[in-house]
Amino acid sequence: MIESIIEKAKAESQKGQLASYIPALANQPKDLFAAYLIDENGEVLKFGDIDFKFTLQSISKVMNFIVAAESLGLDNVLDKVDVEPTGDPFNSIVRLEVAEKGKPFNPMINAGAITVASLLPGKSVDARVQSVTDFLAEVTGHAHAVNQEVYQSELETAYRNRAIANYLKANNYLEGTVEEAVETYLQLCSIEVSTEDLAKFGLFLAYDGLDTSQDKRLISQKTAQFTKALMMTCGLYNASGKYAATVGFPMKSGVSGGILGTIQTGQVEHLKGRMGIAVFSAAIDEVGNSVAGMHFLESLSEQYDLSVF
Ligand code: DON
Repeated sequence: MIESIIEKAKAESQKGQLASYIPALANQPKDLFAAYLIDENGEVLKFGDIDFKFTLQSISKVMNFIVAAESLGLDNVLDKVDVEPTGDPFNSIVRLEVAEKGKPFNPMINAGAITVASLLPGKSVDARVQSVTDFLAEVTGHAHAVNQEVYQSELETAYRNRAIANYLKANNYLEGTVEEAVETYLQLCSIEVSTEDLAKFGLFLAYDGLDTSQDKRLISQKTAQFTKALMMTCGLYNASGKYAATVGFPMKSGVSGGILGTIQTGQVEHLKGRMGIAVFSAAIDEVGNSVAGMHFLESLSEQYDLSVF
């Protein structure tokens, strides 16, 4: 059953393109596909190229927000970034000019994520990035590197992100310098993960921040609730509403082709209860979501009735 869903999803990926605006991502293999599901008993379903590592890209916005909220306090982060969807592309600048006082709308678009990156704990760019890699390592059980080739490639082409950061700084929504905030944000985007790592992270969110492998609460339930609400309403950019309707559980995508999902309860073959799910396929649509990945998630959710609605 799932194999046939995957075959159809892979065929769809021909309609997508690699993220050519970041030169290093344009070199990603286009024909790979990986899907990984893990449930509350540690049961696993895995398909395809699960050993392939890719960069988090915008999926890092989830970890970025969590670490800032946990270290500064959720209310202090919400003073600097809202929790409202925009319906605009992820790298849009327009609302920073027209919205009241230029406050970024949410942490899942670039404007909000750059603000949040500037709030991370630590006195240097490296320390702020490490606050996120340390947290991710705690959930996945191993260390995570920043892909330097992708990072340099992003840094050289970050014209829009620098423009956004300048607007944020001018409106007092950025700590430190513009360049520090952009570097921190782009290093976070360049952290390497596998679908297994993201599936574990999805399970952790399904448990509202309880790490079941250590039986330890790593973040507050409130931070987890805000994170999942943000993923559901803003996690797939200006396609978030459509996928809330067709998939119906919180997800976050990145332009490298990865998608993180968290399932509150369900049954997929022998897996049941809370689940984490991750997909990777590098060809993305014009909004920035993996074409095969979203196709797979839509079909899987329909087949196994995974929507919360
Ligand atoms: O800001 C950027 O251009 C990228 N580093 C991250 C963007 C991204 O993943 C948006 N996703 N769909």
